[in-house]
Amino acid sequence: MTGKGLTIAIDGVIGAGKSTAARGAAAALGYRHLDTGAMYRAVALAAARGGVEPGAPALGAFLEGLSLEFPAGRGGGIHLGGEDVSEAIRSPEVSRSVGAFADDPVVRRVLVRRQREIGRCGGVVAEGRDMSTVVFPHADLKVRMVADLEERARRRHREFLAAGVEISLSRVRADIRRRDREDAERDYGVEGGAPEDAVEVDTSGLTADQVVDRILALARKRGA
Ligand code: C5P
Repeated sequence: MTGKGLTIAIDGVIGAGKSTAARGAAAALGYRHLDTGAMYRAVALAAARGGVEPGAPALGAFLEGLSLEFPAGRGGGIHLGGEDVSEAIRSPEVSRSVGAFADDPVVRRVLVRRQREIGRCGGVVAEGRDMSTVVFPHADLKVRMVADLEERARRRHREFLAAGVEISLSRVRADIRRRDREDAERDYGVEGGAPEDAVEVDTSGLTADQVVDRILALARKRGA
């Protein structure tokens, strides 16, 4: 731990509630919330606008020149060259293309470096699939979030309905299954899956507040 607080790394399966938990825990502790999925999405958005494909030789230089910022306050958000793209990065087009950019080793190298810079001083809740294995292997607290497939499907389905998207529960469930499989096939640069010192939090049957409370209790035990 540093003078500014702990480094908390949250990873886990799709739809286990990582984002809500990370945002809530960061707010309660007065830490920064580092949403690394938003960084991959912003890269996909910027590349689409710039006409740069994943795997293109120009991608490395393009990324080095990219201004990607998380302005403090105002509920966070992500800015690309000064423009707030927090909503634009959630579009279906970005959701479809982000995987190919996330698979590109050049993108991963650049973003992992930036994530480490942001987390260097501690006082951060970092969320994403490779947080405790690759980006912050020495995090003060590593949380791996899991939940039943059925519960994850129901939650995602409710979110779609709330956003006015008509989709069946079975389609949402099948989509999560497919993404679980794809995720399991990716090693994010490490082998062996979850680190032994990660604490598993099963969010099935828990409310968002209860999940945040669990994480806060774990963080306090470690001196937050
Ligand atoms: O979490 P979110 O759905 O916003 O992440 C978008 C995509 O970014 C994921 O589907 C995954 O392909 C990629 N990602 C990643 N490593 C991270 C965070 C996200 O590869 N640490």
